[in-house]
Amino acid sequence: MRTQVAIIGGGPAGLLLGQLLHRYGIDNVIFERKDRDYILARIRAGVLEQGTVGLLDEVGVSARLHHDGLVHHGIELAFGGARHRIDMTKATGKTVTVYGQTEVTRDLMDARLAAGLTTVYNADNASLHDFDGDQPRVRYVKDGVSHEVTCDFIAGCDGFHGVSRQSVEPKVYERVYPFGWLGLLSETPPVSPELIYNNHERGFALCSMRSSHRSRYYLQCALDDHIDNWPDDKFWDELKRRLDPEAVDHLVTGPSIEKSIAPLRSFVAEPMRFGRLFLAGDAAHIVPPTGAKGLNLAASDVHYLSTALREFYADKSAAGIDDYSRRALSRVWKAERFSWWMTSMLHRFPGTDEFSARIQRAELSYLVESDAAKTSLSENYVGLPY
Ligand code: FAD
Ligand code: DHB
Repeated sequence: MRTQVAIIGGGPAGLLLGQLLHRYGIDNVIFERKDRDYILARIRAGVLEQGTVGLLDEVGVSARLHHDGLVHHGIELAFGGARHRIDMTKATGKTVTVYGQTEVTRDLMDARLAAGLTTVYNADNASLHDFDGDQPRVRYVKDGVSHEVTCDFIAGCDGFHGVSRQSVEPKVYERVYPFGWLGLLSETPPVSPELIYNNHERGFALCSMRSSHRSRYYLQCALDDHIDNWPDDKFWDELKRRLDPEAVDHLVTGPSIEKSIAPLRSFVAEPMRFGRLFLAGDAAHIVPPTGAKGLNLAASDVHYLSTALREFYADKSAAGIDDYSRRALSRVWKAERFSWWMTSMLHRFPGTDEFSARIQRAELSYLVESDAAKTSLSENYVGLPY
């Protein structure tokens, strides 16, 4: 097999890249280790920046998003038993859209199928070769049979545990946080029309949603905790302890549809280009989920990468691909800073003293009293320009 761009990984980064390249007339094949149903069962991100929505518009996969997605103009911060609204649209003129990653992925998969583009699911043991030269190769095994693909470029979109970053030796910057997030999805109406980020002495809690009848809640938990320790009743009791009184009154509880624990990590691999191999999305960087940036960074990476490859093929210029890593990392680091800051401001850090708790409280009250601080939070939350 031969293709122009071999894409490793069929998550949001790989699928969106595939559609963008297709739109620019660039042939591509996706090699994905799992199958379609496995990927669609992963409950992850929920908040899309306006720029991400714009990219989905550009590739023509946003009809369902505009029909079912919830456009939000603000978020609420809760601490000390009270809630404070941050009007992001007033501060920036922009909005975010609440629409699950699962649905984004489904829309992209359907569009890829409709366009007749090739995705090889259950592609085992992928290995990357000769990306230092002009003709990289990808080898993989499918149904016990080995295959080899030649290409012009390889896009490593295979997430944090993928083979692409493991095939090179980037410099790595990392911070692991001493807690995780326990998430619960339920078929219940959201407690409030907007997201509520709660700082509480028992630990952080987030009230989010997927639709007018489906809610997503998160609780800060210990790193070594396990979902078996969290029957639904215990989850709801703990959530009520961390919410403000009005939210407790409005909370509708019900059986969980999904429950999972995710560790929190900040991670950046530099550079994001190695010859003709490019890293994009979680393969190159991880943010703690507090700023809702992971999926959105995957989208901005593949925007930069697709325009660079378009320049290479259409204008015969390598300027874009030469600048890809610098451009992407410049935006990545700002999102890393924002996600680290939101995480530091909103969580309980085990072992920290009363001074740290007072500084955290001062940060939160400054934020809700200062228009400048609210604008700063808002412009990062809705997404910095590309
Ligand atoms: P992935 O989604 O990890 O996709 C990589 C794909 O590559 C996978 O399908 C995998 O099976 C495949 N793969 C791996 N190895 C190989 C291999 N060797 N060969 C072939 N294929 C391979 N982000 C936000 O923007 N907003 C949020 O609100 C948000 N909330 C989150 C909440 C939680 C609890 C979590 C865990 C994450 C959240 N994120 C959020 C982050 C977001 O989910 C990720 O950043 C996003 O999935 C990254 O997409 P990706 O395509 O780069 O990687
Ligand atoms: C969701 C996840 C986040 O990390 C976040 O900051 C906001 C919303 C969610 O899954 O709905």
